[in-house]
Amino acid sequence: MEISLMTIEDYDKVYKLWTNTSGMGMRSVDDSLQGINKFIKRNPTTNFIVKVEDEVVGVILCGHDGRRGYIYHTAVSSEYRGKGVGRALVQAVLEALRKEEINKVALVAFASNDLGNKFWHSIGFEKRDDLVYRNLSINHNNN
Ligand SMILES: CC(C)(COP(=O)(O)OP(=O)(O)OC[C@H]1O[C@@H](n2cnc3c(N)ncnc32)[C@H](O)[C@@H]1OP(=O)(O)O)[C@@H](O)C(=O)NCCC(=O)NCCS
Repeated sequence: MEISLMTIEDYDKVYKLWTNTSGMGMRSVDDSLQGINKFIKRNPTTNFIVKVEDEVVGVILCGHDGRRGYIYHTAVSSEYRGKGVGRALVQAVLEALRKEEINKVALVAFASNDLGNKFWHSIGFEKRDDLVYRNLSINHNNN
């Protein structure tokens, strides 16, 4: 099992993993081939996959804006869970962010995602009860 940088050539296998994983909030435009290509071009050093026999069994996306890192779409296929793959993917992201001198990283998880929230809690990501997450959709085709 080996962690490598994700490239756009991995898209089909990564997309298959995402669509087979519950708890992913997929977006039609952002998660299309073009959307992920744009994300990887802007953030070429902070997206990772784990491959086993040419199948992608783990993925994490991360981008930063020069100040904060943001993690998206972390998934490990059900057969490979509980073996440290998720933790290793997050470690790879943290190392990559440190190299870019980013000092803090955040993510959004559905409140109903118990598994995801237990995972993030156990690896040190604090839940913030003092903040309200707000957003505004500026492309109504991105459902
Ligand atoms: C969340 C997810 C990525 C974790 O991946 P994983 O490879 O199984 O995680 P790891 O084996 O690295 O586990 C790291 C720690 O998380 C915690 N954890 C993982 N699975 C857990 C579970 N089912 N119940 C409770 N704690 C769990 C444990 O503390 C574990 O450390 P330990 O093994 O030393 O006890 C994986 O379960 C997944 O893909 N879930 C569906 C998608 C998802 O919810 N993604 C997050 C979106 S916000």
